[in-house]
Amino acid sequence: MEQEVIRVLIVDDIAETRENLRRLLQFERGVEVVGEAGSAGEAIRRVGELKPDVVIMDINLPDRTGLEATEEIRRRFPATQVIILSVQDERDYMRRAMKAGAYDYLVKPPPIDELLSVVRSAGAEAHKERQRLTDVATSSSVALGTGPGTLGKVIVIYGPRGGVGRTFIASNLAFALQAPDTAIVLVDAKLQFGDLAMFTDVQPRHTMADLLDADTLDRELLNEVLLPTSADRVRLLASPLAPEEAERFTPEFLRQIFELLKQMADYVVVDTSCMLDLGTLTALESADLILMPLIADLPALRNARLAMHVLIGSGLDPEKWVLVLNRYHKRSALSADRIANYFKLRSILTIPEDDKVLASINKGQPLTLRQRNSPAARSIFQLARVVRERVWQTED
Ligand SMILES: Nc1ncnc2c1ncn2[C@@H]1O[C@H](COP(=O)(O)OP(=O)(O)OP(=O)(O)O)[C@@H](O)[C@H]1O
Ligand SMILES: [Mg+2]
Repeated sequence: MEQEVIRVLIVDDIAETRENLRRLLQFERGVEVVGEAGSAGEAIRRVGELKPDVVIMDINLPDRTGLEATEEIRRRFPATQVIILSVQDERDYMRRAMKAGAYDYLVKPPPIDELLSVVRSAGAEAHKERQRLTDVATSSSVALGTGPGTLGKVIVIYGPRGGVGRTFIASNLAFALQAPDTAIVLVDAKLQFGDLAMFTDVQPRHTMADLLDADTLDRELLNEVLLPTSADRVRLLASPLAPEEAERFTPEFLRQIFELLKQMADYVVVDTSCMLDLGTLTALESADLILMPLIADLPALRNARLAMHVLIGSGLDPEKWVLVLNRYHKRSALSADRIANYFKLRSILTIPEDDKVLASINKGQPLTLRQRNSPAARSIFQLARVVRERVWQTED
């Protein structure tokens, strides 16, 4: 059997040291350097994004010590193993490294053979630990999900105008966020006439409405109601089939659903209606990040600005918003720069008008799943990168 690759993150505040380590490791079979970080905060964020098997960690970092970062990484991402590198060759440091949960402690500069052998055994440990955590999760039938103690992030796609591409972006973003050991739940919070199941070609055998009649709402019940999609890591919570069922939900019940989903997935991607109704408001309240799709016409922009103003006025954090200019083409009378300017932003993300979108929706096959190179899909992969960076950054 092909050996599983060991994915490594290098953490050091000196770029040259990172580069040297990368060079040492890059030609090793079965070892892949997936990223670098220059501070403790960045390291923790990148571990959240990339889920590396092994982190090579410097002790002296500008914001916090490598030991503190190690402790946090081990607590939040228990499968990831940390190897501490330090110039200090002292027993006391070694003891503290072990106490922080480090896998091993090496003195700089480590001999290449020693480094490699420690990386390999730490990698094997990470793979074993990941498998064990997955087994525990599946045996208790609470499938998928983040490591113990890690809460997922809620990303809400909301805009005050109908037909601007909320559902298109929500469905495509969910598939674009796929990564190893990453669970994603798509939620259709458009409680009336939700169409996310159609966009993802899922037969809604169960919907949120099934949760209403149970005695207790818990992870196990939710797990039964989540529907599989064509990608292993993405599941769907469909909206009720009958519009009148929307009336049976209360804010408290919806809040509880979001709380539980955060325990079960790394990313909870929520589609909403254009109305500030119950589904939208509870989703926005639970949001770690809000993506607002815009189209380049003045009334739409004005309404978007008004909606932002109202919601920020009622207590939503302005830092949580990301504007996305959808259906953009260069000949548009209002350029992306002018629109960014209108919102007092330096720049704005765009998704181009793409003639592949409609057919992909009709087939229920998101572009980020089937036509990853189409122009709109590429922009959504870009958006997924921004989303990952933003949501893990807010942890610091
Ligand atoms: N980037 C794009 N390029 C081309 N067409 C697009 C693009 N984005 C969205 N569309 C088209 O716009 C239509 C509306 O998209 P979508 O249903 O995702 O919007 P919505 O905001 O969810 O609408 P609703 O108000 O019905 O919930 C779709 O039929 C799709 O074909
Ligand atoms: Mg929609």
